[in-house]
Amino acid sequence: MFPWMIIGFATITFLIFIHRVVKFSTRPSLPLPPGPKPWPIIGNFPHMGPVPHHSLAALARAHGPLMHLKLGFVDVVVAASAAVAEQFLKVHDANFSSRPPNAGAKYIAYNYQDLVFAPYGARWRYLRKITNLHLFSGKALDNFKHLRQEEVSRLTRNISKSNSKAVNLGQLLNVCTTNALSRVMIGRRVFNDGDGGCDPRADEFKAMVVELMVLAGVFNIGDFIPSLEWLDLQGVQAKMKKLHNRFDEFLTSIIEEHNTSSKSENHKDLLSTLLSLKDVPDDDGNRLNDIEIKALLLNMFTAGTDTSASTTEWAIAELIRSPRILAQVQQELDTVVGRERNVREDDLPHLPYLQAVVKETFRLHPSTPLSLPRVASESCEVLGYHIPKGSTLLVNVWAIARDPKEWAEPLEFKPERFLEGDKVDVDVKGNDFKVIPFGAGRRICAGMSLGLRMVQLLTATLVHSFNWELENGLNHEKLNMDEAYGLTLQRAVPLSVYSRPRLSPHVYAASH
Ligand code: HEM
Repeated sequence: MFPWMIIGFATITFLIFIHRVVKFSTRPSLPLPPGPKPWPIIGNFPHMGPVPHHSLAALARAHGPLMHLKLGFVDVVVAASAAVAEQFLKVHDANFSSRPPNAGAKYIAYNYQDLVFAPYGARWRYLRKITNLHLFSGKALDNFKHLRQEEVSRLTRNISKSNSKAVNLGQLLNVCTTNALSRVMIGRRVFNDGDGGCDPRADEFKAMVVELMVLAGVFNIGDFIPSLEWLDLQGVQAKMKKLHNRFDEFLTSIIEEHNTSSKSENHKDLLSTLLSLKDVPDDDGNRLNDIEIKALLLNMFTAGTDTSASTTEWAIAELIRSPRILAQVQQELDTVVGRERNVREDDLPHLPYLQAVVKETFRLHPSTPLSLPRVASESCEVLGYHIPKGSTLLVNVWAIARDPKEWAEPLEFKPERFLEGDKVDVDVKGNDFKVIPFGAGRRICAGMSLGLRMVQLLTATLVHSFNWELENGLNHEKLNMDEAYGLTLQRAVPLSVYSRPRLSPHVYAASH
């Protein structure tokens, strides 16, 4: 044997030996959390089913509230109880403050340059600081309160004009939330809403937002088996690129129109502020760039419109199904607001029953049922189990809020549970892990205070202004409450309803 062959053979044997030793010495002594047995290569993909938050809830009943799955080559841990969610989002929050790599962030959200997908760090902190200061602080919210109230009044005026025609409530709600947000962000409405009808562009825009949520909700094989990404087996990436181009066109035209038009509102809108931040660095020398501005607008228009609109649609559907509860909310509104004017945001703190109705809606119909995924930056130990570095964390907020160990009659719509008994102090703002529709911890929903106000104001206004009946005389007990799955929770069958005004006629006429 040649000497070089002996050296080569010895080297390979040595490397295999070292590899074994390293592998053995770094093998975690703790087990992975339990979970369903994965298939070779594809792992647990077949277990995810068509509605993943349902499938994962069923799996958690068999394997426990902290589960480990393998999707392709990626470790996935799923939290399905309040106690487990608290471990990840409070005790280990810092370690789970980034989002996993995914095609949506790359192809739709300007390659992670937005707020939703920016890696946890200085840039994320800067983007979050800007939106907190100019859009979501108590002061900013109060400054723009009149705009939201005006848009909600327009909504009731338009509904009151529908006469005997049924209205597609979700569609009108979407126009309202989008216009309310766009007036704050870019100083003008983006959709017309004449005579109870809808701007056709609004339908198209809602379809774009829903498509984004559906695509973002798909478990894209390329995210979990990176070597197959280029094949785009489900065609998801191609659809994302196309959708991105449509959004980019929409956002570019908004910015161009904004640059050329004179201001229609007498306040400074968010876009003007963002554009000024391109030139003026903050104390730490941070400046915004053009892509980040578009990415922020994209986040707000997508995360902030359909979430609030569809939650309100679920609230009204629940109230139509429960005439006793509807009558009680209306009674509270008549006492506090009367029938001579519209509800105002300042009324909301004085409407405890309405607030309980909204909490109960968020409990049963959280608009992002699996929240948004997080990633383990380092390996860690949770409840005696090993969580490998790079694991994707899914928090099943839908299942947690229906956990029979925490909630009596969990599937019943019972606002009273928040007014008496052990859930009186429970809020939905990420402090109590039994109900976390906005997530929790450092990456909790940035727009939570706006979303909450909007859903409360819309729900209060709609039940105060109208009595509701289902289309075609459908019995309220027969109302279909099925869910259609995307990243956000849509109604499978849109709510189509007749409205009967219940306030003095001048209230509708006086609406802006
Ligand atoms: C019904 C209303 C809403 C619900 C239920 C909701 C829910 C959520 C959830 C569950 C998350 C992920 C939190 C986590 O990782 O723990 C999130 C993130 C986010 N939401 Fe919302 N959201 C709502 C309204 C809004 C509104 C009105 C806006 C803005 C106008 C908004 C902007 C955002 C942003 C920017 C993030 C990413 C935050 C980050 O990664 O730092 N959301 N939202």
